[in-house]
Amino acid sequence: MSLLSVDNLSIGYETKNGMVKAVDGISFSLEKGRPLGFVGESGCGKTTIGMTLMGLLPDNAKILSGSVRFQTQDLVRLTEDQWRSVRGKDIAMIFQAAMNALNPVYRVDDQVREAILAHRPDISDKELNHRIRELFELVEIPYERIHDYPHEYSGGMKQRVIIAMALACQPQVIIADEPTTALDVIVQDQILEELRAIQSKLNTGLIFISHDIAVVASICEDICVMYGGQIVETGTRKEVFSSPRHPYTKTLLGSYLSLDNEEHIIIPDMRESADLTLASGCCRFQANCTACDAACKSDQPTWIDISPTHKALCCDAGIIRNPHD
Ligand SMILES: Nc1ncnc2c1ncn2[C@@H]1O[C@H](COP(=O)(O)OP(=O)(O)O)[C@@H](O)[C@H]1O
Ligand SMILES: [Mg+2]
Repeated sequence: MSLLSVDNLSIGYETKNGMVKAVDGISFSLEKGRPLGFVGESGCGKTTIGMTLMGLLPDNAKILSGSVRFQTQDLVRLTEDQWRSVRGKDIAMIFQAAMNALNPVYRVDDQVREAILAHRPDISDKELNHRIRELFELVEIPYERIHDYPHEYSGGMKQRVIIAMALACQPQVIIADEPTTALDVIVQDQILEELRAIQSKLNTGLIFISHDIAVVASICEDICVMYGGQIVETGTRKEVFSSPRHPYTKTLLGSYLSLDNEEHIIIPDMRESADLTLASGCCRFQANCTACDAACKSDQPTWIDISPTHKALCCDAGIIRNPHD
């Protein structure tokens, strides 16, 4: 059974210009031991999904439809009281720009201690200290550094503390939202390697969010490509990365194609950002799609199966099935 299963989820934000539909009818499931990646340009709804799974949507957000099954519960129906026993304990998040999340006036081990105590107030001192030591070992921070203050740490070390805090209560699902975006490339690689090792050691569910498809492909078994609040293509890493079908996925991958790649891929120009006010279910990529025709403006795109695990959302089955045309 899936660890987490999302069905037809739509989320809107109330704004002074009306309702913005940030997430439009998405469905996916997360399997244990198969990290799932979400990739797409800024504003496509990735963080909104993460916040929904943590019960942390802002006040102007509205869940318009759908369900999120986790264990025996539908997370979209939880009250704030019920969320308190799930958030951070069963489902934990490594936030975007998490490096500013550490409190500058507390030592790092005390901050990890707080994260454990939040859900296990009755833990003995001995067990607590043991757990802190174990967590710092897991993220490879030397024991003699654990009493330091955040300003004594490098960016990479701070990010490791944030990962340790997310792992503090042995969550079943970890959501990592752009966890390495603020780091330089070498440190980014180290942190990704660390996350990969931790994930396979602990066998937790991992949802990994990034605007960078190469980063997502380096850590995830399965990938969902998002555009304008919709998932437009999904498949295994190999399927999406090596044989992209949706025109938007091709755009994303454009900058990674090597010169000797024999496959001829037409890369559309991105002229306009996605229109989130379009009616539900419309193709939101139409303004940028080189293959767009009259039918795309009137028809709703449908899921076209390429393999049992690979599919793309498009009005034109021919485009998806015959990628070289
Ligand atoms: N609190 C908010 N109020 C209104 N609109 C928002 C709010 N948060 C996000 N949005 C809008 O929702 C869309 C999706 O945002 P987000 O989930 O942050 O995307 P991503 O993480 O992919 O960059 C964007 O168009 C963004 O402007
Ligand atoms: Mg985001």
